[in-house]
Amino acid sequence: MSAVALARTGQAMPLVGFGLWKVPRPICADTVYNAIKAGYRLFDGAGDYGNEKEAGEGVRRALTDGLVKREELFITSKLWNTFHAKEHVKVLAEKQLGLWGLDYFDLFLVHFPIALAYVDPNHRYPPEWWGDDGKSVTLQDTPMQETWTCMEELVDLGLAKNIGISNCQGSLIIDMLRYARIKPQVLQIELHPYLTQEAIVKLCKELGIAITAYSSFGPQGYYELSMDRGATSLFKVDAVTTVASKHGKSPAQVLLRWATQRDIAVVPKASGPERAVENLKSDGFELSAEEMKAISALNCDLRMNDPADIDPRLGIFA
Ligand SMILES: NC(=O)c1ccc[n+]([C@@H]2O[C@H](COP(=O)([O-])OP(=O)(O)OC[C@H]3O[C@@H](n4cnc5c(N)ncnc54)[C@H](OP(=O)(O)O)[C@@H]3O)[C@@H](O)[C@H]2O)c1
Repeated sequence: MSAVALARTGQAMPLVGFGLWKVPRPICADTVYNAIKAGYRLFDGAGDYGNEKEAGEGVRRALTDGLVKREELFITSKLWNTFHAKEHVKVLAEKQLGLWGLDYFDLFLVHFPIALAYVDPNHRYPPEWWGDDGKSVTLQDTPMQETWTCMEELVDLGLAKNIGISNCQGSLIIDMLRYARIKPQVLQIELHPYLTQEAIVKLCKELGIAITAYSSFGPQGYYELSMDRGATSLFKVDAVTTVASKHGKSPAQVLLRWATQRDIAVVPKASGPERAVENLKSDGFELSAEEMKAISALNCDLRMNDPADIDPRLGIFA
């Protein structure tokens, strides 16, 4: 399976993994187990997805059944916004590891460069964006430097092999490099043909930070949330379908290959086994430079996932 070697550890991060956002709890263990059986090795989880215990059950069953060894898996998780303060980062990482039933994460990311008021996990977990009233968002003054220092300690303690960030822009990354003892090894961002993110891809290549694209299918995963901004499905646009028929591949496979061909990792989420396999088998062909260019020309800087929609004070992409 194709992979990128991460800076500092040299660990191989598979280029195609399985995304766990919106995988319902009742089917999550089986979904993970079957994905491992199908050949997936990387799982992209997060405290916020609320299904870490069930994902861990799937992993443990696969380990017990001898489908795979722990060291062959690459498990990613993320620290939620309400746990950025120095007294909470390690506690939450340990809680999340406990849910998965793991000793370490291969990669632990700061989910958003947004610090929100602490919510005791015994009170509500995962806490999501809002307070108890389900409406108000309470910011907290924890600078990224404090959170990042704690992330580095997770590496020192062996709780995370690699650490990184998500939803960050160039100016914040450049600032982090001024104080980071351990550089972020991965940046996970929304990236698809409607939002090609060329400048940050270039910056990260320069800095030796690997990129994981999320929402590779653009609006597809957002239709069910009415967060699709009225965008046409990327599975239906000519630039993608023409290339797909030429190569005898599905539009989904073309969209994934458009990223992985440039060493940008992808973590598509699929409900059925056929789609999961289709997505995993998306790296056995090459798009020509012209085809890559035609797909990239769909860029219109259209972002689906913007916390400013929740509260304008969360305008991290402003
Ligand atoms: N860091 C962050 O802030 C962040 C934010 C968003 C997402 N993520 C990560 O990225 C992962 C993927 O992003 P995403 O969930 O937004 O969406 P996505 O993977 O781009 O798209 C998922 C949608 O595409 C459909 N689909 C999957 N494979 C398909 C195929 N081969 N043919 C046709 N349809 C297909 C799925 O339908 P079915 O489910 O019905 O099969 C679902 O509706 C998440 O699960 C999560 O791990 C991270």
